[in-house]
Amino acid sequence: MADAQNLDTLLKESRRFEPSEEFRANANYRDPAIYERAAADPEGYWAEEARNLDWFEPFHTVLEWNPPHAKWFLGGKLNAAYNAVDRHRKSYRKNKVAFFWEGEPGDTRVLTYDELGREVDKAAHVLSKLGVKKGDRVTIYLPMIPELPIAMLACAKIGAIHSVVFGGFSANALRDRILDADSRLLITADGGWRRGGIVPLKQNADQAVEGTAIEKVLVVRRIGEQSGAAWVEGRDISWEAEMAAAPSTPYPAEPMDSEDILFLLYTSGTTGKPKGIVHTTGGYLTGCNTSMRSVFDLKDEDVYFCTADIGWITGHTYVVYGPLSAGATIVMYEGAPDWPDRDRFWQLIEKYRATIFYSAPTLIRSFMKWGTEYPKRHDLSSLRLLGTVGEPINPEAWMWFHEHVGGGRCPIVDTWWQTETGCAMIAPLPGLVATKPGSATRPVPGIVADVVDEEGRSLPPDQGGYLVLKRPWPSMLRTIWGDDERFRNTYFGKFEGIYLPGDGAHVDEDGYFWILGRIDDVINVSGHRIGTMEVESALVSHPAVAEAAVIGRHHEVKGQAITAFVVVREGITPSDELVNELKQHVVQQIGALARPEEILFTAELPKTRSAKIMRRLLRDIAEGRVLGDTTTLADPSVIEELKQKYAHRE
Ligand code: PRX
Repeated sequence: MADAQNLDTLLKESRRFEPSEEFRANANYRDPAIYERAAADPEGYWAEEARNLDWFEPFHTVLEWNPPHAKWFLGGKLNAAYNAVDRHRKSYRKNKVAFFWEGEPGDTRVLTYDELGREVDKAAHVLSKLGVKKGDRVTIYLPMIPELPIAMLACAKIGAIHSVVFGGFSANALRDRILDADSRLLITADGGWRRGGIVPLKQNADQAVEGTAIEKVLVVRRIGEQSGAAWVEGRDISWEAEMAAAPSTPYPAEPMDSEDILFLLYTSGTTGKPKGIVHTTGGYLTGCNTSMRSVFDLKDEDVYFCTADIGWITGHTYVVYGPLSAGATIVMYEGAPDWPDRDRFWQLIEKYRATIFYSAPTLIRSFMKWGTEYPKRHDLSSLRLLGTVGEPINPEAWMWFHEHVGGGRCPIVDTWWQTETGCAMIAPLPGLVATKPGSATRPVPGIVADVVDEEGRSLPPDQGGYLVLKRPWPSMLRTIWGDDERFRNTYFGKFEGIYLPGDGAHVDEDGYFWILGRIDDVINVSGHRIGTMEVESALVSHPAVAEAAVIGRHHEVKGQAITAFVVVREGITPSDELVNELKQHVVQQIGALARPEEILFTAELPKTRSAKIMRRLLRDIAEGRVLGDTTTLADPSVIEELKQKYAHRE
């Protein structure tokens, strides 16, 4: 459960920041009655929000709730790409910039809504020519280049389901996701730029597709000759050649049922197998569109910059579908925040006069370490609103962000949500809600959250418990792809009809929520979810490893870091070389994001008498705490030995 140290620090936090009079006066949401109105009639509230989208056919029923299955906006027909792009082409936004894109090496591309729409139409023709049909899955493994949102929107336009896999995942991880989704088409690039180096996407893709149903690989040229990427005749197809040959006529948007699937996005859970989170068209789009206007206070004149990679849910919702459906101008950046120097984000904000900046606590902690000289080099006066997501933000990082990036004048929206929730669930409406550093404040209108005990009873203020969402909401996941049983057990197995996100939290006297982190075997490294079992499976797939236990321990910058305790097979001698080899093995199996920070060899793992690994004790050791209850251990000497070993590692 929530660790006590964390709780103490949070409880001591009593600073409050009100929005400025100017911000309040100009905010989209100025009347606090919105909260009561939405609470009194949530379905009416969401129906009103849904009508901000363009529907080919109106919905006749707002919600059908057969727990744990929800259907929203029944009978309604719409298309996500039409809402994200085409409707703006028909409006005064036709020549408004949709994307200011900046490549890591400094190349740039500007796409207006009309230009973006033309690209999406061409790409839809290309996909259609390749035989992609409504309901087919298309896996996309691309860097942060304009072709990524174009490919996603092209899928949406023809009704195909996209499954974007983050470019930092390995060939193995990509293969697992292709197999699970049963995709026939993969869209990738010859490589991507990262800190001046080349990410070998095509090489990974070539390995990944072996033994899968992939028939064609559409390859975007990002790097060129230097990439060293191989070409498989008959299977590989050039994106550029196909786009050049595609008809220049509009591609008619497929009218999708509100409940038709828009995309799958894989995320980690408590087993070794990632879950394909299923999002549908009408509800998801309503959720992300609403939060652009409410949480991000988006206006037509804003220039909006979200630093997330589109390979994660934050990028899906807040680089692509949310801001585009709301007609925003988006800054999209390909590379690392410290390339060529540690002021890259600040330089981009100055260059494009960004007004809204949405980033992650782990990055803010890096900025803090790098020092104030970097933001000071640039004029950040265009900013008016800041946001964070991915993990609890420590009050020091919040204050630093507030002062050194926001100049003390910008409200900060700390947004709590998940891949499964589709869009922000707990976050301030910045003109209405005073903020407290470290708290995501209160649920957005239309969302009912609570903190409950083991039996599902609401807890009084300041008592830690399970965070739950008590009513269905439009952008909630509908199921796990191919595994409805797992969906039911994971999210609705503990409390009947109530959604369990897997986070611990408490609510303070003012009704503010304080998120305390995961309560399951999921580690949050730099805002990215990694299952302990995934890393353990990767480790035991190495021939030298007999057993492994993985935990997340506190890390100053990453929030949590991965520590692995490993038992080697008989005849194997632990060594520094083996440590490096095992780290590399995990990178190969999953990706660099899962690389263990440290690996410790041990003769045995601490287990209960029923042979369950006691990860709680391993966490205590790694974080240097007094050991918790050890009475259930089968062999208490194991833990003493481990403790000594850990204390004496270099
Ligand atoms: O533990 C919570 C943490 O990130 C988890 C969701 O991870 P993912 O599905 O990868 O989505 C991340 C981006 C939406 C949550 O269960 N989390 C996310 N945002 C916050 C947070 N924890 C505290 N405060 C937040 N603002």
